[in-house]
Amino acid sequence: MGKYIIAGNWKMNKLPSETYDFIKEIEKVTMGANCEVVCCTPYVNLTEAVRAAKGTHVKIGAENLHFEDKGAFTGEVSADMLCDLGVDYVIIGHSERRQYFAETDETVNKKTIKALEKGLIPIVCVGESLEEREAGITMDLIAIQIKKAFANISAEDAKKVVVAYEPIWAIGTGKTATAEQAEEVCKGIREILGELYCVDCAKEITIQYGGSMNDQNAAELLAKTNIDGGLIGGASLVAEKFAPIVKACD
Ligand code: 13P
Repeated sequence: MGKYIIAGNWKMNKLPSETYDFIKEIEKVTMGANCEVVCCTPYVNLTEAVRAAKGTHVKIGAENLHFEDKGAFTGEVSADMLCDLGVDYVIIGHSERRQYFAETDETVNKKTIKALEKGLIPIVCVGESLEEREAGITMDLIAIQIKKAFANISAEDAKKVVVAYEPIWAIGTGKTATAEQAEEVCKGIREILGELYCVDCAKEITIQYGGSMNDQNAAELLAKTNIDGGLIGGASLVAEKFAPIVKACD
């Protein structure tokens, strides 16, 4: 459906001094990839990441941004700052930010609008907790997250957004959603986007799966109709583990 994108989310891992060589390694092991390859790094690693990725097929992303342009927001980073560095992507609304840093559907929406305005590609994360899944409200919750994230965004802009479905119970737990579970929700997300915009618009939007995706399960997940890529945590920190996931897009 959408363009295939495999993105690594380094979270709070790797030093700035390790970044240049690691991106070069990622470049080497993903050469000839049939999908877009993205590495999202901590803010302080971005300069080195962009320097290493320059002129290669590897794209660089940040893991967050602030929705204001500038001003008295100590410790925050603006979209203009990311653009000035040469960053292409930005993760928005990761469940860890929702859980530990008071990210809400409203701030996710503001950040998504700001990223689009500045030409950054937002990777908007949605996902349910184990409790919510067991209560049978997964799709209700995801529908709210999607509708709020896309509020006041035009169809033209919506097509540029990447959605990452990350069930919270599958993140860093080694407990992957089955390909059927992941496909069911990703299909549901596409249907909601189809209702918000149009069916053809929704087909153009990349929907990733994230949550303990690895070299063993990537091919099965990526073979599903509505899964157009992955957002990879742990396995993105080791080039030999990341490369087979990229290859699985073939
Ligand atoms: P893991 O791949 O480590 O489960 O992390 C997934 C994730 O949160 C990517 O954003």
